[in-house]
Parts: sequence; structure tokens; C-alpha cells
Amino acid sequence: MTDSGMSRADDDGDAVIRVRGLTMGFDDFVLMRDLNFDVRRGEIFVILGGSGSGKSTLLKHMIGLYQPLAGHIWVAGADIAEADDARREAILRRVGVMYQMGALFGSMTLLENVRLPLEVHTDLPREAMDAIARARLQLVGLGAFADFMPSEISGGMQKRAAIARAMVLDPEVLFLDEPSAGLDPITSADLDRLIQRLARTLDMTIVIVSHELASIFAIADRVIMLDKESQGIAAEGDPATLRDTSNHPWVQRFLRRTDSDEERPA
Ligand SMILES: Nc1ncnc2c1ncn2[C@@H]1O[C@H](COP(=O)(O)OP(=O)(O)O)[C@@H](O)[C@H]1O
Ligand SMILES: [Mg+2]
Repeated sequence: MTDSGMSRADDDGDAVIRVRGLTMGFDDFVLMRDLNFDVRRGEIFVILGGSGSGKSTLLKHMIGLYQPLAGHIWVAGADIAEADDARREAILRRVGVMYQMGALFGSMTLLENVRLPLEVHTDLPREAMDAIARARLQLVGLGAFADFMPSEISGGMQKRAAIARAMVLDPEVLFLDEPSAGLDPITSADLDRLIQRLARTLDMTIVIVSHELASIFAIADRVIMLDKESQGIAAEGDPATLRDTSNHPWVQRFLRRTDSDEERPA
């Protein structure tokens, strides 16, 4: 049960990702039980929760890297858990991912980093790959840095290059795991603006794992809040509305706190 009541009808045509009855964990260790939610086409959808609540694990389930203990996940209409390897590969071609620890390859230039998924997944001629990679770098404001090494640019620029790499295959859904972790507030706000601009101009669906409150209120269309203790979704909806109307004590504390690093007390 969430703050917004029961989950929407099963035939929500706007859903690009549909999660039903998802129980996830590792062997005997259950992290979350019976999760139900949709990610709608074109929205910025944020997964919130304290550290260790299972945000990164949920993201990895949504891209088929982990098998659910129970339940189903449909990505662009295909059941990712039931898919065979070829089908899963086809689905994965349609999503872009920036992992929490998803660093750039330090021995490659930005252009080579961004070009890499094209080399792995396409047979395009080299000049075409370079043109696409350069266009992606321009889109994130790094057009002049194509030949730089990651160590020669700032942390915020590295994040932008990693986003360019994640979206080089023109994904339907872009997954970003804690994109602003480790950035100062101003760089982090710049990154938020970039993410919003990408969502709007490319009409892309973006799923973000975050616990940066300022960022959530700035960019999230909708959030789900994973609650470690109840092993479920404590709230779902527009973050400002949840902050103002939720009567769930932890949701209130989480969304009204001023210290962005506060976690749920043990
Ligand atoms: N591959 C794995 N095998 C076993 N346990 C894992 C694995 N990945 C994560 N966990 C555990 O699952 C819990 C949630 O991890 P994670 O999804 O990374 O949390 P979050 O991203 O919310 O901080 C943690 O207790 C973590 O140790
Ligand atoms: Mg994580």
C-alpha cells in the first residue's frame, strides 16, 4: 500500500516500465517484497531511500542484471526476467545506464569512452561512430573536450561524459544511479539542469537513483520511496505533494529534512 493508494490499472498504456509483485534479494536475504509501480513514458522518475535500502539493486533488476525472487518487470512491453539471452540483449540495447560506480575508462579519451557502446553494439563505419559520439559530447556541453583524458577534466564534467556514453545508443530509457554523488551543490545543480534538458529535448524517460533532496524537488516528476524497515514502497507520487500531504512519519522526515545525508534512524 502506498500513499497514493493501490497501483494504477494494469493496462496503463503510458508505462514504459511496469513492475508487478517484485520481490528482490539475494538467496535467503529479502530486500523488498511485492513492489508495484510504473515508470511512464517521458517522465523523470526518482527512486529514493536510505543507503542499503535496495535502490541500486532495484535498478539492476529493471535492466535485467538480477533475477527477481518473485514477480515481473516489463521494459518496453517485454518481460525482462522471462527473456532469453538474445531477447535480453535486444532490450538492453534500448536502455542506457550510468552505474553508481560507473567511471569512465581512464586510459581512453572522452571520445573513445563515448564511442565504446557503438563499437560493441553496432557495425557503423568508424566516421559515423565518431560523428555520433561527438554529437553526444556536444549535447552535454563537452564538444571541445573530445580528445581530453578523464583525468584532465573536473568531476562534474566526468559525470556529463558518462551520461553522454550512457545515451550514445539513443536509449528509450536512461538509468542514472546517484549521478550527483560526490559533486558540490553548484555542480550538482548544473547536472540537474542538464538532465532536465535531456529529458525534455530528447523526450527520453529517465530513471534516477538519488538521495539528494534539492535535486529531487528540482527535477522529479514522480518518486517512489523504498522503506527498508517495511521492505516496501512507503510513498509514491510527486515529491512536493508527498512532502506536504504524506502522513507517513519516515516520508515526512525524509522529505522535510534539512540535512541531506540524514538516514532513517535504526
Ligand atoms: N550482489 C549482491 N549480493 C548480495 N547482497 C547484495 C548484492 N548487492 C547488494 N547487496 C546488499 O543489498 C542491500 C542493498 O544494496 P543496494 O541496492 O546497493 O542499496 P542502495 O543502493 O539503496 O544503497 C545491501 O545490504 C547490500 O549489501
Ligand atoms: Mg546504491
